[in-house]
Amino acid sequence: MTLIAHITDLHLRPRGLTCYRVSDTNMLAERAIKALLSLESRPDAVVLTGDLTDKDDPREYALARHLLGKLPMPVYLIPGNHDTAAGMRAAMSDFPGIKESEGPDLCYAVEIGSLRLVALDSSVPGKPHGHLGEAQLSWLDKTLSEDDRPTLVAVHHPPAQTGIVHMDRIGLADTQALGEVIGAHNHVERLLCGHVHRPIIAGFAGTVMTLAPSVAHQVVLDFADEAPSMFNFEPPAFFLHRYTPTAGLVTHMAYVESHPGPFPFWSDEGVNWPGDEPE
Ligand SMILES: [Fe+2]
Ligand SMILES: [Fe+2]
Repeated sequence: MTLIAHITDLHLRPRGLTCYRVSDTNMLAERAIKALLSLESRPDAVVLTGDLTDKDDPREYALARHLLGKLPMPVYLIPGNHDTAAGMRAAMSDFPGIKESEGPDLCYAVEIGSLRLVALDSSVPGKPHGHLGEAQLSWLDKTLSEDDRPTLVAVHHPPAQTGIVHMDRIGLADTQALGEVIGAHNHVERLLCGHVHRPIIAGFAGTVMTLAPSVAHQVVLDFADEAPSMFNFEPPAFFLHRYTPTAGLVTHMAYVESHPGPFPFWSDEGVNWPGDEPE
């Protein structure tokens, strides 16, 4: 079995500061890391699909190093629109994948158990939308051609329209060009995305896009054309992508916060606790 935890959009701030006045993203990130550490099955790796920091500030990256350093498994990072490739490369250069990545785009490919991860850089300095560009897309095409193992492609900006209009306006610009590359490689099992701060599943170019909720604040669910850009504190969560050769890749959502339970299932006729003799 290969198990990958997919977390996203931490929006870390310098120590002691909140995000947008009310989101204590540093505390929420710490809780997410505790939730990862307390999973019954330890993931083989963590993929973090961007917006690691809120303002690409070296102090935010310093806190990221401190928090992510608590995880014993490899952590694979890609930049979001709140990060920059240059800032992430400068501060996180010893993280796996980043140190092997060359060129202006922070993109790389690694093996995780039976799977392959291809990490893309959709950040555009100073802009909220995403763009991959011809050079990175041809690198993606070449990289996907080299190996036909089941592959996850990580990109911060989702290529599929979500229906949350103000976020779709700052989505990925070269969606069609990405679709042509992905559609030519049927071993791409998933696109792992972030950016929209909600759990969203959509088909894209013959594969499945799984957009993970933020482990901090969420974007309000509102499909109105003029819906304002607002956030709330719906329960933070993350995805677990579990692969076995027989079942393929199956994605589960897991919550960060604690909740009541577990409780045993039991019948109305009599209590059947684990280990009881059947009545
Ligand atoms: Fe974000
Ligand atoms: Fe974003």
